[in-house]
Amino acid sequence: MSDWICNAIVGKSGYGKSYYFVNEMLKKRTGNMPVLIIDKKAEYHEQLEAAKINDYMLCKDESEFISKIRKGFKNKIVLFYPKKSVGYWIALDLIISMSRPVWLVLEEAHTVVKRTDKESYGKLFDIVRFGRSRNKNITLISQRLSDIPPDIRTQMRQIITFKQTYKSDLKTLDELGSVGSKKVFDFDVGEYEIINV
Ligand SMILES: Nc1ncnc2c1ncn2[C@@H]1O[C@H](COP(=O)(O)OP(=O)(O)OP(=O)(O)O)[C@@H](O)[C@H]1O
Ligand SMILES: [Mg+2]
Repeated sequence: MSDWICNAIVGKSGYGKSYYFVNEMLKKRTGNMPVLIIDKKAEYHEQLEAAKINDYMLCKDESEFISKIRKGFKNKIVLFYPKKSVGYWIALDLIISMSRPVWLVLEEAHTVVKRTDKESYGKLFDIVRFGRSRNKNITLISQRLSDIPPDIRTQMRQIITFKQTYKSDLKTLDELGSVGSKKVFDFDVGEYEIINV
């Protein structure tokens, strides 16, 4: 897959990560690849409605997700709002088992990539690491750059950063070849930088 997506969108709350993902990535996607958006905050249906995206299937908890997925989801956008960590395992296992292309989008990615939850971290790491050869696209969304552990970050193609304010995150941005952490610190709502890593 030449246009393989493997990226992370990071930035302070309220500065435009979800807006960018929905309007600049999801809305402009080509092809008919299914998209699975896992959103613990349960707010993506509002974001999709605001962007006039209607072809999605909403699963408000684990049982709804399992029953709807069994019936198939073809090329749709699936919104899954997990209530428990088991929901992440179910979704990650599904992605791993799928042979067809799929785009996994993880909101609040830090809740999954916590190294303490070795099971989901391991599953996610595998999806990222073997994503290109196994037709798995992945987008991780989180507030801080440090939410994306280095061994996952180094597998990414791009980091899209909105405003960042933590010193350690700004330092990492400089190491990654950002236009300048000072600029990123001063970003307004909707301003971002795409860093090819
Ligand atoms: N480029 C933009 N043009 C117009 N409005 C925008 C733009 N980017 C963001 N906004 C608006 O700013 C607000 C915050 O954006 P958004 O919800 O995307 O933030 P976020 O980074 O996802 O925050 P959180 O981490 O809390 O989820 C929203 O009301 C959104 O509509
Ligand atoms: Mg958001």
